[in-house]
Order: sequence, then C-alpha cells, then structure tokens
Amino acid sequence: MNQVPGIKLNNGTLMPQLGYGVWQVPDDEAERAVGTALEAGYRSVDTAAIYGNEKGTGKALAASGLPREDLFVTTKLWNGPSRRWGRDEVLRAFDDSLAKLALDHVDLYLIHWPRPMRDDFLAIWKTFEEIAASGRAKAVGVSNFRPADLERLGESSDLVPAVNQIELHPLFPQTELRALHSRLGITTEAWSPLGQGKELLTLPVVASIAAKHGRSAAQVVLRWHLRSGHVVIPKSVTPARIRENLDVFGFELDAEDTAALDALGSGPAGRRIGPDPAVFDV
Ligand SMILES: NC(=O)c1ccc[n+]([C@@H]2O[C@H](COP(=O)([O-])OP(=O)(O)OC[C@H]3O[C@@H](n4cnc5c(N)ncnc54)[C@H](OP(=O)(O)O)[C@@H]3O)[C@@H](O)[C@H]2O)c1
Repeated sequence: MNQVPGIKLNNGTLMPQLGYGVWQVPDDEAERAVGTALEAGYRSVDTAAIYGNEKGTGKALAASGLPREDLFVTTKLWNGPSRRWGRDEVLRAFDDSLAKLALDHVDLYLIHWPRPMRDDFLAIWKTFEEIAASGRAKAVGVSNFRPADLERLGESSDLVPAVNQIELHPLFPQTELRALHSRLGITTEAWSPLGQGKELLTLPVVASIAAKHGRSAAQVVLRWHLRSGHVVIPKSVTPARIRENLDVFGFELDAEDTAALDALGSGPAGRRIGPDPAVFDV
C-alpha cells in the first residue's frame, strides 16, 4: 500500500519522500488528523515545538501500533527570541520535544529558523552535533537557511545538515538554493508544498495539466515536487485530501507539464508566501 519512495540522506538515513505536515493543527485535533494520515499510509510526520501539537502527534503515533522503525518523525527547535540558546537550553528544548512526543528518539531534528540577526546558529549547531552523536536524533538539519547561512555553517562545522526545509513550490522555486543543496549533499524538503492551498491551486495552467491527467491541482503540484527530487510534507485536516495527497504515484508529468510548472516562478504570481528568513525573528 505504501508506495512512497525513500530518499537517502547524507548520513545514510532513509527518509520518506512524502510525509504529513501538521502546522496549524491544534494539539487536541492532531491525534485524529495524524491518525488518519497514518491509516492512509503516511509514515513520516513533520511537527515542531512551536506548533504546540507534539503531544497529540505522539498520541497518534503510539495509538497506530506501527513499529517505531517504520515511522519517520521530524521536529524542530524553536530558537525564538525569548531565550539565549546555549547548550543547556537547546538540550532542554530537545528533551521537552521527546517527552511530548513520548519517543526516545526522533528521525530528524531541525533548527527552525536561522535568525541571522541573532548570530547564534553556529553555537546551536554545536549542540546539534552532540544530539546527532548521541543517536537521539537519527539525522539533524536546518530549516529556512539561506545560501549564506549554509556557507557559514560549512566553514565552522564538518557536520553537513542532512536536510534544509524551505518554502518551496512552483511559485517560489528557490533555484539557487536547490543547486547549492545538490553541491553540498543536503536534501531539499519543501514546506508549504501546495502554496498553502491558495492561488497556486487555482492557476489555469495547473488546472489544465490536472485535467489532462484526470488528477487534482494538488496532485499535479505534488508530482512536480517528487519529479524534482524534493521531500514534501503537505498538510490537510480533511480526510479525503489527506488520502488524495498520498495518491500521487499512479501518474507522471511529461516534459511539457514540467516546463510549464517550472515557468510559474518567474511569472507574475511568482513570490514567497511565508516570512523572509533574512529578517524573520518573531
Ligand atoms: N519549517 C518551516 O518554517 C515551515 C513553515 C510552514 C510549514 N512547514 C511545514 O510544512 C507543512 C506544509 O505546509 P503548509 O501547511 O504551510 O501548507 P501546504 O501543505 O502547502 O497547504 C496546506 C493547505 O492546503 C489545503 N490543502 C491540502 N491538501 C489539499 C488538496 N488536496 N486540495 C486543496 N487544498 C488542499 C489545506 O486545507 P485543509 O487542511 O483545510 O484540508 C491547507 O489549508 C506544514 O504543515 C509544516 O509541517 C514548515
């Protein structure tokens, strides 16, 4: 039933190429939503300390009865401005996430934002090295890091992030960053892969490709990501959409479809939806 391919991260860990994201799912709804996703066949779940739903997510993981080794769980350090993120604070935040998830390890732990104006991600990464060495995170990585942030990290550490989770969809294709990931051996993971279910899914070009394949706009966009080699983590609380977003392995886009979707980023609607990591610090 589970046809999701695995992507081999730079430390050998296998990560499902398609997972389930839970941003904006309240904790008391997360158990049901994640439970629906696991029942549909998802095996990878993307949460974060700041989403406030690690407990509900953990309950669903436990209730699923699935063997731990079949699951891939990602969470993120909320390196927010309320604290100084020294070693103890990072380790405490990590322990707190594990306790809420009711797990003894996660598969992937990410620094949520670079916050370059705070100039502390190099120090945080030192503690991530320690977490990776302990085996309590099978892999560690970053999120929302820009080329300059990745280059700084590379100058100060031999541990290359396994993943950079970034805003990425046909309207914001991040070409330069993806090329850098390929050079450095970092897996590209797309957040808001459906463009948050907004304008992207209503564009005529997407609709016409969807009609051609007898698929939905969301399925076409997910197929574009898979073909481009990205890991994707679409979010939905709607059971039919949760299933639809996983049912993307029975068709292929052709070169013409791909070129039309590739061109969207440089068209009039091409822009980011979320915050700019250069200035985001709230
Ligand atoms: N690292 C970061 O800074 C960061 C930032 C943002 C997101 N993320 C991660 O990425 C995940 C996905 O991103 P996202 O939640 O921002 O956006 P998304 O997955 O691109 O889109 C989610 C929205 O699209 C709708 N939707 C889902 N499937 C659909 C379908 N088949 N047809 C039509 N509409 C559909 C959902 O509605 P319903 O739920 O109502 O069905 C929801 O409103 C998050 O959940 C989170 O795990 C990470």
